[in-house]
Amino acid sequence: MDMGSAGLSASALADAMAAAAREIDHALDQLLPAVEGDEARLYEAMRYSTIGGGKRLRGFLVLEGARQFSVSREAALRVACAIEMIHAYSLIHDDLPAMDDDDLRRGKPTAHKAFDEATAILAGDALQAQAFYVLAGEATHSDPAVRVELVRLLARAAGPRGMCGGQMLDMMAEQAARPLDEPAIGRLQLLKTGKLIEFSAEAGAVLGKAPPAQRHALAAYGRELGAAFQIADDLLDATASAEEVGKATAKDAGAGKATLVSLLGIERARLQAERLVAQARTHLDGFSERAALLRALADYVIARRH
Ligand code: IPE
Ligand code: IPE
Ligand code: MG
Ligand code: MG
Ligand code: MG
Repeated sequence: MDMGSAGLSASALADAMAAAAREIDHALDQLLPAVEGDEARLYEAMRYSTIGGGKRLRGFLVLEGARQFSVSREAALRVACAIEMIHAYSLIHDDLPAMDDDDLRRGKPTAHKAFDEATAILAGDALQAQAFYVLAGEATHSDPAVRVELVRLLARAAGPRGMCGGQMLDMMAEQAARPLDEPAIGRLQLLKTGKLIEFSAEAGAVLGKAPPAQRHALAAYGRELGAAFQIADDLLDATASAEEVGKATAKDAGAGKATLVSLLGIERARLQAERLVAQARTHLDGFSERAALLRALADYVIARRH
C-alpha cells in the first residue's frame, strides 16, 4: 500500500482516527445529553444512533482540515459533531423500511428496529435540527459571519442540492426503466455522499478563515474523496460480509441500486475509485507536512474493509 508522501503508515492513521473518534464521542455525549422526563425516549434514540459507532470519517475530516489552520479544538469538535449528527440522521432515514429497509447498522439493530419507526423518523429529524443548533452556537466561532457561513454550507450539502437530492435520485434509480449511465451515477453519488464529505473537508478552512485557494483545494479534495468513498461502499456491498462492515451486504444488486459496480463490474469500479483517490491527493499538493493524515486518508477510503 502507498504509505503517502509523508511516509505515514496505515496504523498511524488508524490510531489518529481512533483518537479522534473518542474525542468526538465525548463531545457528542455533552451535546446530546441523556434527559429525564417525557422526551427521554427521543434523546435515547438520538444517542443510540450517534454515539459509540461509525468510522467518524466526516468528523475526522473536519478536525484535520481545522488543524491546517490552527483552529481551536473546541470549535472544530463542535463542527465535527454537527456533521456526524447530520450523517447519523441520514443513516437512520436511509435504513427505514420505505428506503433501504435495513435491520443492521454499525453492528447493532437499526433505530427503527431498536425503537420503532415513528421514533426513528423523529430522532433523525431532531438530530438534523440539533446539528444546526450546535453550528449556530457562539462557542462554534466568535464571528457570527463564520457561523452563518457554516450553517449555509451544511444546509446546502444536506438539502435538495445535496444528500437529500442524491437520496431521491438513488430511490428513483431503483424504479428506472433503464440503468443509469456513468455520468448519472456520478451525479447521484456526488449528491448523496459527496456533498457531506465535501462540507467536512471544507469546514475547517471556513473556521480558520483560510485563503480562498486553500479552502477550494480542501473542498475539491473532499469531493473526489467522497466519490471514491461511495464506490468503496458499493464494492464492500458486493465483496464484504455483514460481520466485517456491521451492516447487511450483497443487497444493492437485488434492490436495483445504481452503482458503478453494477454498471462496470468490480475491477473497473475499483480502478475508477483509485483514479479518484489519486486526484483527491493532488488537491493537497499546496499543503504542508501537517496534511499527512489527510493524504493517508485518501488511500484509506479505498483500502478499508469496513
Ligand atoms: C455509510 O457511511 C453511508 C455512506 C455514505 C456510504 P459510513 O461508511 O461513513 O458510515 P459510518 O459512519 O462509518 O457508520
Ligand atoms: C447511503 O448510501 C448514503 C446516505 C446518504 C445515507 P447507502 O444506502 O449505500 O449507505 P449504506 O450502505 O446503507 O451505509
Ligand atoms: Mg441508501
Ligand atoms: Mg443504505
Ligand atoms: Mg451502501
